[in-house]
Amino acid sequence: MSDLLVFTSITEFRAYRAKLKGSVGVVLTMGALHAGHASLIVRSAGENDVTVVTIYVNPTQFDNPEDLKKYPRTWEADLALAKKSGAQAVLAPSYEEIYPDQYRYKLTENVFSTKLCGAHRPGHYDGVLTIVMKLFQITQADQSYFGEKDFQQLQLIKDMANTFFLKTKVNACPTLRETSGLAMSSRNVRLTDAGKEKAPAIFQALTKSSTAVVAHKKLTDAGIEVEYLEEHFNRRFVAAFIDGVRLIDNVEI
Ligand code: PAF
Repeated sequence: MSDLLVFTSITEFRAYRAKLKGSVGVVLTMGALHAGHASLIVRSAGENDVTVVTIYVNPTQFDNPEDLKKYPRTWEADLALAKKSGAQAVLAPSYEEIYPDQYRYKLTENVFSTKLCGAHRPGHYDGVLTIVMKLFQITQADQSYFGEKDFQQLQLIKDMANTFFLKTKVNACPTLRETSGLAMSSRNVRLTDAGKEKAPAIFQALTKSSTAVVAHKKLTDAGIEVEYLEEHFNRRFVAAFIDGVRLIDNVEI
């Protein structure tokens, strides 16, 4: 296994990128990597000559400062998992480097980003689309890999890549789940033991209910606070809070 190169400087990363031959795949993350991220890295490593993982907890996509503060940070374990899954390089820039404009410039989508998570997290998708555009520009990747757990994010990024004629292809990858059905997420580590027992009810309700209203009631009855439970494009989407941790999921219906 070759050594993992770790870049915190965008300038140094770009010099490295300029010398790369062959195809480059990128997996964009906010760290706290888990098996779901590993599956994206493994797929990229199988389909590209070089795989780059970015690790950046992006403040502009957090509408709640407490949520940003509590976001798990597991740097050493992240590097080990990225390497083991087949990445050659990690890019982890500082705020000062990635936002030289202090976020004066941003990217906004005005329709789908106002629904679902966007309706409850003001500015969230502006932050996501802006950072993804920056990271696509810096990495100049041929391919990128995103999980379907964040289905709305994936759809918005796909549309953005098409709209702006970006060279980076956006690939959708299936959600990885615990055996209980709970969708893998960096936020799961913040659940208490009691919360972990409750959380699989989310997937159960999504998949085993005749309507969204029934699914909503099942979760409320289980003591889970539902932010939204809606159906769009033949999918059922949910955001819910357990132990104050916001979890999202979606399934095809
Ligand atoms: O899905 C995530 O982890 C983040 O939203 C992303 C795409 C890395 C942008 O910060």
